[in-house]
Amino acid sequence: MSKERQVPVDDRLLTTNPNDIFDDPDIDVVIEVMGGIEETRSLLVKALRNKKHIVTANKDLMALHGPELLLEATANQCDLFYEASVAGGIPILRGLVDGLASDRITKMMGIVNGTTNFILTKMSKNGSAYEDVLKEAQELGYAEADPTSDVSGLDAARKMAILSTLGFSMTIDLDDVKVQGITEISKDDLEYSQKLGYTMKLIGIASRYGEKVEVSVQPTLLPETHPLASVNDEYNAVYVYGEAVGETMFYGPGAGSLPTATAVVSDLVNVLKNMRLGVNGRSAVSPQYPKALKGPEDVYAKFFIRLHVSDEVGVLANITSIFSEYGVSFDKILQLPLKQKESSEIVLITHRASLFNLDRIKQELSNYEMIKEIKSAYRVEGEELL
Ligand code: HSE
Repeated sequence: MSKERQVPVDDRLLTTNPNDIFDDPDIDVVIEVMGGIEETRSLLVKALRNKKHIVTANKDLMALHGPELLLEATANQCDLFYEASVAGGIPILRGLVDGLASDRITKMMGIVNGTTNFILTKMSKNGSAYEDVLKEAQELGYAEADPTSDVSGLDAARKMAILSTLGFSMTIDLDDVKVQGITEISKDDLEYSQKLGYTMKLIGIASRYGEKVEVSVQPTLLPETHPLASVNDEYNAVYVYGEAVGETMFYGPGAGSLPTATAVVSDLVNVLKNMRLGVNGRSAVSPQYPKALKGPEDVYAKFFIRLHVSDEVGVLANITSIFSEYGVSFDKILQLPLKQKESSEIVLITHRASLFNLDRIKQELSNYEMIKEIKSAYRVEGEELL
């Protein structure tokens, strides 16, 4: 109530009691931008049961309870729109549901968290330190109240659960999304990526092959010529590959008050259009396919691997033979001396391998005494056409 606002608002229109809104027959639409999960869910269910349409920007809520809230909305002939929950001002949800309704989407790759994209851009381009850039992202208002959900990849995972549920017409729960954040990325990883012609981004990947899908979020190397590689600072983009349309990319501001407000008010306009046509509550489509998730043996990618090894005769030959046991060969390889005596650093990019085989290779490498440490291992994407 006492919050300072940039526009004048008649005090008589303000309340801290949600029931004042739910019980008012003159109110048709509730716009929820307060955040929170369990309490907010009960309030929205109450609003729907009181026949109020809902517009929400709440990705945490929609990633966890979206399907049940949409069913509740349909049962009450109400609309429930949530365009602002993914990628701020980019109309990606309507892009998937309406714009690409005629196509079969096989892959989506998203930079859907502005904070981490800002951090990785500043670390790669200016050599800035992680903590300094995180602080700057918080001051600029990109980060969540608790930035752990940004840097751990959870915020991006929530958005990927929402995107893949719509894009693949299959209920993907937050727990189905494998997540790795950016906290372990070192300056060395970023420098080697650049040396090898790649850009490191936090990428949400949703891919379908046949009936099965994989949804994950992780630091990923992209060729510097890939359209997502030039999405910098706090910007977001979702690259969508459809069987008929081929490659598309939706780009824009993923956070910030005006971009988010654009999405929220566009949803409101859609509710009003539906009211005029008398068709509210009919646009939520139930997922068409049963959930079928790929296992690690079905997920293939190239990988960037950085190792610290003893600088001894035969070490490279032995590493090569561990990889070739699993049918994996190298696309690129760098070997450089380290400051520590008799140690060197090997950085390699593999050809395509399954996640399952990569894990087995990592296990064997860690048991091999000439390998001092597996410093990092990241996916490489964006080099194959689907
Ligand atoms: N913390 C989020 C981000 C805000 O950095 O993208 C928008 O969801």
